This record gives sequence, C-alpha cells and structure tokens, in this order.
Amino acid sequence: MKIISVVGTRPNFVKEFFIHNELKSRGIKEILVHTGQHYDYEMSKVFFEDFNIASPDYYFENSSQSGIQQIANVMTYMESVLNKEKADCTLIYGDVNSTLAAAVASAKLRIPIAHVEGGIRSKSLYNPEEINRRVSDHLSMLIFACTRTDYENLIKENFPEDRVILSGDIMKDVILYMVKKDNIKVERGDYSVVTIHREENVESKERLKNIILGLSESKERIIFPTHPRTKQKLEEFGLIDEIIKNSKIEIKKPQSYREFVKLLAGANKVITDSGGVRREGYILKKPVVVLIDITWFPEILETGWKVVVDADPDKIASAVRNFEPPKIHPEIFGNGYAYKRIVGTLVDRFGDL
Ligand code: UD1
Repeated sequence: MKIISVVGTRPNFVKEFFIHNELKSRGIKEILVHTGQHYDYEMSKVFFEDFNIASPDYYFENSSQSGIQQIANVMTYMESVLNKEKADCTLIYGDVNSTLAAAVASAKLRIPIAHVEGGIRSKSLYNPEEINRRVSDHLSMLIFACTRTDYENLIKENFPEDRVILSGDIMKDVILYMVKKDNIKVERGDYSVVTIHREENVESKERLKNIILGLSESKERIIFPTHPRTKQKLEEFGLIDEIIKNSKIEIKKPQSYREFVKLLAGANKVITDSGGVRREGYILKKPVVVLIDITWFPEILETGWKVVVDADPDKIASAVRNFEPPKIHPEIFGNGYAYKRIVGTLVDRFGDL
C-alpha cells in the first residue's frame, strides 16, 4: 500500500505528524509532497524540525502571486508527481489552496482521495477556505470529520455514509501530545495571544485598523505572533508604528509549533480569526474571542466558550477585558486518537487495492 500525503501550510504540517508516524509504525509507504505554499523558515521548516519529520520526498518551489495562480501551479506540479508515484490514495488535509489543487489533480487522474478535516461549513460561500473545503470534499472518496456537526453537514448534503467517517480532530491529538511531552503548564496567565491572518481581515485596511484599535483599547497585555502577510499589510497600511509604540502589545515573528503551544497554554484568552487556533484555544480551556463573523465549529459558540466580535473595536476591547465562559467545558473534538481512526480506515479501504 502506498499513500501520497500532500502538505503546504503550517496547519497541514502539524496534522501530518501523527499520520506520518502511524503509517510508519504499520509499515505503510508514504510519499510526502510539500507544495511550498508556506516557505519561510518560521512558516515551514521549523515545523519539520519540531516534529522530527523527514524532509519531504517532493518540494515544489512555489512562487505564485495569487491564490488562483497558486492553485494552478500546484495542480500542474501534482500531475507529474501523481503520474510518477502511482499511489493507492492521495491524502489531503484541511482547506488550504494546496488541498484543493491536490484534490483536483488526483481526481482527474482517478486516484482516490481521502480528506482529513472535511465537512466544515459556513454560510460564506466565497471565503477562500470554504471554496477549497467544499470542492475537496466532493472529490474525496473518504472524508474524515472532526466533529459531529461536520459529519452531519456531509450527511445533509447527501454524501453516502460509507464515504464519511467521524474521526475526531487530529489537531487535538497533536496539541495534547505536545503539552504532555514538553510538560507544558496550562494556566491562565497575564497576557492574551492574538493571531490574525484571514484574507478578509488583512487585505482590508479598515478591518485591520479596527482590530488593532480594539486590541489597544482593551489595555490588556497582548502577544501577537504575526503571519508574514499580516506584518506586510500592517506596514503597508501604516499601522505597525501604532503597535510598536503601544507597550501592551508585543509583536513576535511566527512561532514554531512548540513555542506557539507554550504561548497558548499560558494565555489568559485567545483572540483569533483562525479556524485552527480557535479549536486549540478551546481544547486548552481558554476563552476564545473571534475576529471574523464566520462560524466554523458552531459547537464552540454553543458551549459559551467563544464570543464573536468580528472587527468591531468596542466589542473587541470589551471581550478581551471581560469575556468569561461558563464552567462546563464539553468534549467536542474527539478522544485524542483521531489519527488511529484515520489510518485504520485508510488501511481497510485501500490496503488491498
Ligand atoms: C493559508 C490558508 C489558511 C490557513 C493558513 C495557515 C489558503 C487560502 N489559506 O493562509 O486557510 O489557515 O495558511 O497559516 O490556503 N507568505 C509568506 N511566507 C510564507 C507563507 C506565505 O510571505 O511562508 C505570504 C505569501 O507569499 C502570500 C501570503 O503570505 O502573499 C498569504 O499566503 P497564503 O499561503 O496564500 O495564505 P495564508 O494567509 O498563509
């Protein structure tokens, strides 16, 4: 049995770690393709170092200027890799541009696809990740859902039950492992962590300005690891000086996974527009303040551990200062063994092809 795993961005590298080890322990051959979507040291290589994952078998020097170009270039690249490797299955993760590109290339070549983290839905049809997720799900033979809602979304869309598996969330597996391995103390400290990278927030001067204003007005201590695009936009929009002169907000370069988990674990609150970081915040029992009005994982909202403030400065300042969740903290993202369910299913389904 031979599997091609396609990764391109930070959250993909994190998810690949456990799958990689589990495949290895079962003696299954995995070919790892890095699409180069994230390429800076802090956005890519450091994750391979953190997890001790061998260098990818294929690395694409991706120099795309736009998301569409990125998809087109990765798709063409994947055609040559897939034709050469003749694998039994292509494994894709999440909702990034590389995921969609690999899905289309693989489907066109009639290689079955398995999609980890499928079924997440929002009403924002033209959000870049929504497009990637919906198309990838439809082309996949197997879809692994993180939560019951994601599973039910697919059933409601008439996906046959034998294509959809409720696996739980592999991000939970990994974050719990990291906390345990490095003996990281999980406590509510004297700072909050903010991450901002969504296209909707960083490409709009008004939204980005309002978010920074809200954070400043909270007067709370905030640590802000910046994505390269966010940093670039803060500079372009003339907002960076505002942050630098504010002694309460501390800008940091993108963090390795290990360092980021430490930051999250010690944070008072997690403020984010990321789909992954809001889950990680919830799993580590942090109140989560969300900077975009797109509801992925409605379960978190239902528990009362998340508040959506969008890019409204007053709501942001007030939530960063005052938002407190209830005491009850239900399990949403599985039991910490999603990777076993995923690899077990892959073996059952594709093992004798
Ligand atoms: C991507 C994913 C998003 C995911 C995020 C994780 C899509 C549509 N978006 O967003 O779902 O949550 O990754 O971080 O796939 N850049 C650098 N250095 C890098 C990587 C990117 O400078 O190492 C620049 C790119 O050149 C580009 C911009 O950042 O101009 C955006 O990168 P891109 O990969 O398109 O989207 P992300 O914002 O990272």
